[in-house]
Amino acid sequence: MNAASPAQHAPATLQVRDLRTHFHTRAGVLPAVDGVSFTLERGKILGLVGESGSGKSVTGFSIMGLVDPPGRIVGGEVLFQGRDLAKLPARELRKLQGNRIAMIFQDPMMTLNPVLRVDVQMIETVLAHSKMSRSQARELARDTLGMMGIPSPEERLRAYPHQLSGGMRQRVAIAIAMLHRPDLIIADEPTTALDVTIQAQILSEVQKLAQRHGTSLIWITHDLSVVAGLADEVAVMYAGRIVEHGSVDDVLDRPQHPYTAGLIGSLPSNNRRGQRLRQIPGMTPNLLALPPGCAFAARCPRATAVCGQTPGITEPLPGHRVRCFHPALNLAEAAA
Ligand SMILES: Nc1ncnc2c1ncn2[C@@H]1O[C@H](COP(=O)(O)OP(=O)(O)O)[C@@H](O)[C@H]1O
Ligand code: SF4
Ligand SMILES: [Mg+2]
Repeated sequence: MNAASPAQHAPATLQVRDLRTHFHTRAGVLPAVDGVSFTLERGKILGLVGESGSGKSVTGFSIMGLVDPPGRIVGGEVLFQGRDLAKLPARELRKLQGNRIAMIFQDPMMTLNPVLRVDVQMIETVLAHSKMSRSQARELARDTLGMMGIPSPEERLRAYPHQLSGGMRQRVAIAIAMLHRPDLIIADEPTTALDVTIQAQILSEVQKLAQRHGTSLIWITHDLSVVAGLADEVAVMYAGRIVEHGSVDDVLDRPQHPYTAGLIGSLPSNNRRGQRLRQIPGMTPNLLALPPGCAFAARCPRATAVCGQTPGITEPLPGHRVRCFHPALNLAEAAA
């Protein structure tokens, strides 16, 4: 660290500003991500939550520059350590993405090469990023598999991906992402299919990585209990937009947006046994035919006439942002 850039003035790991990614389909323009903004500081973990189809994966792919036609980033900026990714020469961008940024996909075979043994893939990854001997690289690979709760890592190293179970493959893919010790990891629901104990172990290793190496993480999940145990901050997405963003405690204990309150209310732990689960009434809107105004209005218990206009982002309490005309500012309101 040189004297001209003390840590407190270093740019955030990631700044996303008014990101818009649209799919130009035969049926019309689908605004999958429509004005997403957030900042992620070094070593922080952001949980990105929301129902299926809310734009979480497309947000991750957009940051990684992995959006394919008919999708296109039509607006906004993605700054990684202060540098605008869209303005970097292709070679530099690829280098950054290979080195400093990693994505863990929902499907581990997006990371794994089916025709190479696990040890070959892991050792190549290590050697591409650091000056180690092959045997040191192999040792690091084995230790990282062990950290992911993989039994007999020595044996797994000699396996081909198809010889492993789905859950095992996913853990290998997570291990590969962690091998780089990258500055940013975007993880798209990687632990959803894993059993609870293994999931807890992986989340704890991920937290250690963030603390020890300053790695920042975006952890995409529809599971609020994962976010509660893992993340520092939560951003809640609805219909292509972030509708609420703040610290885990603020958002989960004092939700301001009625959609967030609905998600929390529908958690099994918040429902009495034997009773029907409380669900948010209605359906997620069709993004090809969004009504004007607030996208949540048709399902919202607090909607009034003003909600026919589009709510902007406000920050009614410090560090806790919400996109709603009627944010709940105390617990009784949040429960309504
Ligand atoms: N290749 C594609 N073509 C058209 N629409 C897409 C494509 N990929 C995603 N979408 C749409 O973008 C929206 C957001 O999708 P996604 O980010 O995958 O949601 P999430 O990850 O929150 O479940 C959805 O309405 C989805 O149908
Ligand atoms: S803006 Fe209105 S309709 Fe939208 S979430 Fe807030 S209260 Fe509900
Ligand atoms: Mg997704």
